[in-house]
Amino acid sequence: MSELKIPKVTIPSLREKKAKGEKIVALTAYDYPTARLLDEAGVDLILVGDSLGMVVLGYEDTISVTMEDMLHHTKPVVRAAKRALVVGDMPYFSFHLSVEESVYNASRFLKEAGARAVKIEGASKRRLKLVEALVEAEIPVMGHVGLTPQSISHLGQFRVEGKVPSDAQKIREGAKNLEKAGAFSVILESIPMELARLITEDLTIPTIGIGAGSCCSGQILVFHDLVGFSNGYLPKFVKKYTDLHSIIIEAVKAYGDEVRLGSFPGDAHSYHLKEETLKKITGS
Ligand code: KIV
Repeated sequence: MSELKIPKVTIPSLREKKAKGEKIVALTAYDYPTARLLDEAGVDLILVGDSLGMVVLGYEDTISVTMEDMLHHTKPVVRAAKRALVVGDMPYFSFHLSVEESVYNASRFLKEAGARAVKIEGASKRRLKLVEALVEAEIPVMGHVGLTPQSISHLGQFRVEGKVPSDAQKIREGAKNLEKAGAFSVILESIPMELARLITEDLTIPTIGIGAGSCCSGQILVFHDLVGFSNGYLPKFVKKYTDLHSIIIEAVKAYGDEVRLGSFPGDAHSYHLKEETLKKITGS
């Protein structure tokens, strides 16, 4: 039987969703099995975020993540996603030197890893010029304003951004300028929901919120936070939908107990020789 063709999520279809008032569902993934699950569960957009550094590679922040790390993890996600739009997150210092080098790095996400778009943090004048250059090179770009984790060295700590009028204005202008520069969507991270609502109303492109309240065009969370993969600190905006940490610890402990007792593997999980074959081998 031939496989049913699944209509892929496209950049125009995301815009359409915003126009129709349909919410966009986005999550991060960094590997094949997770991306397959998210795709099967109907997630529209999968971001291979540089949160990879903290969530999967065990770094303290996202600064150490390299282009090679990102490409390595984007490839299996692309192989798994039959429907969802896969966006590769440009890691720190992959888009900070020349425009040429930045466009080249972005192109690797599309050409080598098969992603359909890239995400970059920030909305400074230089960043906006880069967005224009990327769009000119046919590379769809997702912007990211509010809390931008790659600025951790400046910020000192992760916090809510845009709480005072001047910061709120700056974030609002940044989002508008990203749309003007050609971004197809903007992530709004860790900002008050009233500000996120204003930005969502300002823009025709979809806003995707994380810690930005319910008025955005869609929502994104780090997959490992949503499923409770670790029992570490989680920001207020995360909702843990299940507690995989406890579930996995219980499963591994039960396995350990059974191995130590000798009750695993039992008969149901073992293979047998036919009696006559055994006789031939043992000669009895
Ligand atoms: O790196 C990441 O996972 C992100 C999302 C949290 C938006 O940038």
